This record gives sequence, structure tokens and C-alpha cells, in this order.
Amino acid sequence: MSSAVNVTIHSSQFPEAVRRDLLASLRMRQVNHKFHYDSVKQTQKWLALHAAYSPSRTDDDCAATYDASFTASAQRIEANSVHLIGLGCGGGQKDARLLRLLQSAGKRVAYTPSDVSVAMVLVARAAALPIVGAADCHPLVCDLATADDLPAVLAQQAEPAAARLITFFGMIPNFEPQLILPKLAALLRPTDYLLFSANLAPGPDYTAGVQRILPLYDNALTRDWLMTFLLDLGVEPADGELRFTIEDDPAGSGLKRVAAYFHFQRLRQIAVAEESFAFRTGESIRLFFSYRHTPDRVHTLLAQQRLAVLEQWITRSGEEGVFLCQPSP
Ligand SMILES: C[S@@+](CC[C@H](N)C(=O)[O-])C[C@H]1O[C@@H](n2cnc3c(N)ncnc32)[C@H](O)[C@@H]1O
Repeated sequence: MSSAVNVTIHSSQFPEAVRRDLLASLRMRQVNHKFHYDSVKQTQKWLALHAAYSPSRTDDDCAATYDASFTASAQRIEANSVHLIGLGCGGGQKDARLLRLLQSAGKRVAYTPSDVSVAMVLVARAAALPIVGAADCHPLVCDLATADDLPAVLAQQAEPAAARLITFFGMIPNFEPQLILPKLAALLRPTDYLLFSANLAPGPDYTAGVQRILPLYDNALTRDWLMTFLLDLGVEPADGELRFTIEDDPAGSGLKRVAAYFHFQRLRQIAVAEESFAFRTGESIRLFFSYRHTPDRVHTLLAQQRLAVLEQWITRSGEEGVFLCQPSP
């Protein structure tokens, strides 16, 4: 087998687009999440923290919840051939498990691991290769937030007769729902299935639920991962302090999110692509946010995009939910 791999790189991740997005992040003091997964170093740090804190890896019931959703999805799909498209696939562990279940249900499978990070799509490809032949695996690097022609790009990747199952696992927390959901809905053909997972606020009290999950973010591994972005640009740890907070969705949806800000306690100047940025004492830059949903809020947000929830699976902890959806007729 050749040691070279074909990876399709969409223009949304070409160097000039990445440079534009990076400068916008620094100007706005709001870091686009994609810059936390850019380098091999960040990918390794994120994979380590995912293994340590993601309920899908640490909670057997959560893994079983995903499995139940995978089995049900495999049963629902009648076609013999399935094209699985993993949007923001990360390390691809969940997609690989789903591919295995589809295959054991007698389906022929093809896979598009898609992410902004080349390292992630290669890790996801490696996870899928024991199940999907190399010829049926089509790694795609693209930015879901800015790539406008994804329907056409994806249509080229698998046989037209295959049923399509699109996964969007752990993605919705890191995007403003009103920005990403219309794009996701626009990708779906009428007969496509969408398997979507969301981090939830556990328990009947939404605010208390969001407070309860704060330690999943405010910990050493997450701090180390998030700070990599700033340190690689020339910021020093002693320039300020990273603080986590819970804030309301600025768009007024009623959702809450955990957010991380680096607060500068002394002047730091950095230069990026011939532009210089001065962060003054008292200024802050938002590094990260993660929305927490509830099943009802997920239904409402999806319905606004004419996506109907066919079935759902919620973990016993109440911290994560998987939703199988299809465009409403
Ligand atoms: C929280 S991880 C989820 C990974 C995986 N789906 C899972 O559930 O384990 C978010 C993933 O989204 C990717 N990502 C971030 N911003 C993106 C964007 N704008 N377009 C596509 N992928 C993005 C990251 O590289 C990362 O792999």
C-alpha cells in the first residue's frame, strides 16, 4: 500500500483564508475555535483532554448511548450502501464505531472525515481504515463556517445511489447556533439523515446544570490546550490570567455558555502577518465558548431550520444527547 494519502483541501482552509480569519480573530479579540486545532501540537493536546474529560470516553453509559443511536440509525437506513460524512470529525472515534455498526448491519460503507485540521482528518482516516477501504475514504479539510459550496464538493465523493448519513458530533457547542445551523441544514438533501450530538445542561434547573459542568472545562488540560494558541503567537503566561465564566448567549436565545477569556495584566505586543496587535492591561481576548443545550432547546433550534428529530438518546447523567434528524417534508 502507498504511504501517500490524498487529502482534499477546500479553499476555505487555503493559507490566505486562514490568515484572514486569524487576523479577524485578533482584531475582534474573539478567537475562532478552529485555531485551537490547527497544529499537530494542539491536535495532540486536544485528543489527550478529550480522552480525559469527554463523557463519550469516560462514561460507559455515554458510550452506550451513542451505540444505541448508531444501531437505530443503521436499522432505519434501507439502502445497501451508506456514505458517512463526519463534519468536524476530530479523531473520528465515534464515526469509526458507527461505520463498524453499519458494516455489521450488512451495509457497504464509504467515509468522508472532514475537519479544519489536516492532522484530525488523518487521525480519523486511520481510525476508519480497518473498516473502510482506502479507496472509499475521502479525507476533506474545510471550514464549515465559510465553505459555501460544500453540497457540490460532497456530491463528488461517493456513489450517488448511496444513502447519506451526516454526523455533527460535539460541534454545536462551539458555534453560534444561528450561524452554523442554516449552513448545516443547507447541506442536507431531503433523504439524508443527520446524527447530531449536543452537550446538555443536566438536571431540571438549567442555570445550576451549566454551573455543574464547569469543571469539565476549567481544568489543567483544557487551560494548557487553549493557551497554546496565545503562547505560539508570542504571549507569555505571566502576561495575564485565563478565567472561565458562564455567560448568556449574546444573540439573546436564552442559551448559556461556558466561556474562557485571557485577561491581560501587562502590555503585550505581537506581530502577525505584518500586522501588529497591542493588548493593554485590562483588555481581554475570548479564547473559547461552549453552549449548553437542553433537549427542548435542541428541538426548537432544529425546527427553525426545518429539521425534524426522529429519535433521541439522552445519557443517564443528562450531560449529552444524540439526535437523529431528517429535513421536514
Ligand atoms: C469538539 S471537537 C469534536 C470532534 C468529534 N466530532 C467528536 O465528537 O469527538 C470539534 C472539532 O471541530 C473541528 N472544527 C472546529 N472549527 C471548525 C470549522 N469551522 N469547520 C470544521 N471543523 C471545525 C475541530 O478541528 C475539532 O476536530
